[in-house]
Amino acid sequence: MTDWYSRWESNKIGWHADQVNQNLIDYFSKLDLDNGDKIFVPLCGKSVDMFYLLQRGLRVVGVEMSDIAVQQFFSENKLEYSVAKVDDLILYEGDGIQIFCGDFFTLKANHLVDVKAVYDRASLIALDKALRQKYVNHLNDIISKDVRVLLLTLNYPQHQWVGPPYAVSKLEVDSLYGGSFQCQELQNISDIENEPMFLLQGVDFVEKAVYCLQKVRM
Ligand SMILES: C[S@@+](CC[C@H](N)C(=O)[O-])C[C@H]1O[C@@H](n2cnc3c(N)ncnc32)[C@H](O)[C@@H]1O
Repeated sequence: MTDWYSRWESNKIGWHADQVNQNLIDYFSKLDLDNGDKIFVPLCGKSVDMFYLLQRGLRVVGVEMSDIAVQQFFSENKLEYSVAKVDDLILYEGDGIQIFCGDFFTLKANHLVDVKAVYDRASLIALDKALRQKYVNHLNDIISKDVRVLLLTLNYPQHQWVGPPYAVSKLEVDSLYGGSFQCQELQNISDIENEPMFLLQGVDFVEKAVYCLQKVRM
């Protein structure tokens, strides 16, 4: 299992992007959000996408186990914050943004009151197969009906590389979310040319997909 704490301590955070994710920009409208709406970013790291969402006028709530990541998010974006203990989590709160520091699996529905959408980039695919269904089940338990999820995944021959990020196919997305969510595939492109690490490992293909899911059943 990935030791995320030591990844943050040793700054081995190759997944972190300095630029806002282009798929988030391109497909933001699919989330159908209004100014002031609240969006949840699970396993958020110190993603600059959260700052982009704030700038678009949304309220943002994240969860992240590493306090290094959370503190770096606030300092790198020059945002002031306060810190408080909330249940088993530490809540870092700034203007329009809350990040719960702790285990995603201890987050409860009452921590996500008014959440209208979820943004999942490098979160589901950060988890090994055994954890992915648990992650989706828990997400389903803590969000309300009608919430939309913008989900970004990668797929590649899993036997050719160990992960994370792990390969998650359309079949798996359908199976993970199928029971309670409607699923629309927005994009699925082959893009190994822009993935030097996979090229170096001799991986045959890399597909990048974007889905818009909507919770239709309680
Ligand atoms: C691959 S990174 C992706 C971060 C972010 N979504 C991004 O796009 O930059 C996965 C993150 O999930 C965090 N994480 C892993 N398991 C977690 C858990 N059970 N609860 C909270 N955070 C977790 C790790 O510390 C890491 O920062």
